[in-house]
Amino acid sequence: LPAMTNNLTTTNRHSHLPARNSAVLKRKAVVIGEAVASDDADRIFPDQDFAQQAHVPDFGKYLEMYTWSIEDPAGFWSEMADGFYWKKKWGQQVNSENLDITKGNIKIEWFKGGITNICYNCLDRNIESGNGEKIAIHWEGNDRGVDDSLTYNQLLDRVCQLANYLKENGVKKGDSVIIYLPMLMELPISMLACARIGAVHSVVFAGFSAESLEQRIIDCKPKIVITCNAVKRGTKVINLKDIVDSALSESSQNGVHVGLCLTYANEPAMKREDTKWQKQRDVWWQDVVPKCSTKCDVEWVDAEDPLFLLYTSGSTGKPKGVLHTTGGYMVYTAATFKYAFDYKPSDIYWCTADCGWITGHSYVAYGPLLNGATVLVYEGVPNYPDPGRCWDIVDKYKVTIFYTAPTLVRSLMRDGNEYVTRYSRKSLRVLGSVGEPINPSAWRWFYNVVGDSRCPISDTWWQTETGGFMITPLPGAWPQKPGSATFPFFGVQPAIVDEKGKEMEGECSGYLCVKTSWPGAFRTLFGDHERYETTYFSAFPGYYFSGDGCSRDKDGYYWLTGRVDDVINVSGHRIGTAEVESALVSHPKCAEAAVVGVEHEVKGQCIYAFVTPVEGVEYSEDLKKSLVLSVRTNIGAFAAPDKIHWAPGLPKTRSGKIMRRILRKIASRQLDELGDTSTLADPNVVDQLIALADS
Ligand code: WT7
Repeated sequence: LPAMTNNLTTTNRHSHLPARNSAVLKRKAVVIGEAVASDDADRIFPDQDFAQQAHVPDFGKYLEMYTWSIEDPAGFWSEMADGFYWKKKWGQQVNSENLDITKGNIKIEWFKGGITNICYNCLDRNIESGNGEKIAIHWEGNDRGVDDSLTYNQLLDRVCQLANYLKENGVKKGDSVIIYLPMLMELPISMLACARIGAVHSVVFAGFSAESLEQRIIDCKPKIVITCNAVKRGTKVINLKDIVDSALSESSQNGVHVGLCLTYANEPAMKREDTKWQKQRDVWWQDVVPKCSTKCDVEWVDAEDPLFLLYTSGSTGKPKGVLHTTGGYMVYTAATFKYAFDYKPSDIYWCTADCGWITGHSYVAYGPLLNGATVLVYEGVPNYPDPGRCWDIVDKYKVTIFYTAPTLVRSLMRDGNEYVTRYSRKSLRVLGSVGEPINPSAWRWFYNVVGDSRCPISDTWWQTETGGFMITPLPGAWPQKPGSATFPFFGVQPAIVDEKGKEMEGECSGYLCVKTSWPGAFRTLFGDHERYETTYFSAFPGYYFSGDGCSRDKDGYYWLTGRVDDVINVSGHRIGTAEVESALVSHPKCAEAAVVGVEHEVKGQCIYAFVTPVEGVEYSEDLKKSLVLSVRTNIGAFAAPDKIHWAPGLPKTRSGKIMRRILRKIASRQLDELGDTSTLADPNVVDQLIALADS
């Protein structure tokens, strides 16, 4: 390793880099709940026994592999791809354009001409190599004592039955299928069934509202929607079928008619007879799928054929349909899973993410199954019936790798150590974190209390767009620093650039970009390649721009500092301020709205909305409630603002641009840091806002 002394202060995960157009980028040395770290105090060295058994036992081995991956990406990734079944090998050119992403016409391709199938590689290939009787999925229900499991053989049977049903109902290669399911086994089964027949799945997180679902249906025009009648989340029953009904009838009225809604009867949550039904459109999964054959031929697809679409939020208006293709995604999720978690065949792996997000796609479903892993799928909420549930599950299944989000770590940390220490947890060997920067105190609690100071933590930085891990520790390979995602994965060349897009060397702070393409990269935004190029490749020409701020310390460790665009990260969920604003202004009594993110103890950030009611409307608590409801119905409960702040006016420049910098300061009550307000069209607005801060 390079120089190992470190005199940097601990990163404040909440420090927001200034917006793109402001002058200085400085890392804030604010510390949450602990002393400023210095020297060795902030480095945690790998256990020697762990390191010795790891895939990458030391930094030297990493450097060797990393150097190979950068100097000869085609060779490196061909080797990684060789372990999979290819009906036909890819052409001479492993990747497009020599990875040049500077050109105007960006077209990323990996393994083009290679013919394969990711479902075949997840299931049939593992069965053929003798793992048919291995458990593929352990399923743990919301309520204690409700569980199920499937071996690789059984999973293949189930997937084939559904695949046959989809085919019988006219779903063909390239067609899209929307999946709106909670964490039942039927969710990964549905994804794999689509992949098997070359259909493009689009999973919509089952916390999204009818309007969000409708928007996605209209955008990708699915042949069929797969859902269930209801789900239990803790003590609540959520009627998903009602949401789907409303989305389907609205989308019909907007010209997109879906003729088939395959509905799984989740009877513990709701009886069939209590479910609203449209005979000509709705079909019970249990009535039709089990009758189908358990043999289904694979649709062989090109490595560059689309695998799935996943909608995510950007800094402007409508959600973006991130498109991933087959071959590169397959190789990349499998390799990242194996190395970043030091995966071994004896592991029992649990990722708490929902398959409705990218983490669930890459690291509940594809990455682990491609490796032949045993995956735990949990239906419920992690602190139900009490905050010990996770460790109860860990002990029950002898989970060895536990991957979760900082927000859960912080919330469990608040509930006290007793809920953790009453369980053994001795099966655990690797921990993981994803979704937002993990603050050092949460990191330490996770490490010391949950992992008994034995288990390395893989703090994995990546995005829906990147398909898989980009910056991540490799457990055992190097010392960790709490709060740092450490070093780039193989093949990834991060660059930290300044305002002008100039790459900086050594210790620095700026905008996180990536220099060349990697196999798991998304290929386009569905139906809008131009938006793809402008959003990601034009901010800093020659680079993929992530939207994140980042610094690198003098030891070369990377520290993510959060989004620098108008995206808020609430409990690891990405929410565009523009989407929340448009949900607010859709309320008849709202004239204008401006939304910012504010630091929150458990959620990381929360949503803070400044709202100007239309002329003559009185401020009231009821109006606040109905504004929040408007966001819940437009987007989903997870995007509901935590605070509505009445705003007779918003701080705008003379050209009418809202100055969010000022709003952020007011929202976080840093009133002495408002900065220069002289360029405002009406500086009095600021005083008005401050006066109304707690009303
Ligand atoms: C954004 C991507 C892909 C994981 C789930 C979220 C933030 C994600 C980390 C991390 C710091 C992180 C970034 C990124 N983020 N992981 N380990 N450390 N920040 O996927 O919804 O596409 O959001 O999540 O801000 O840009 P996503």
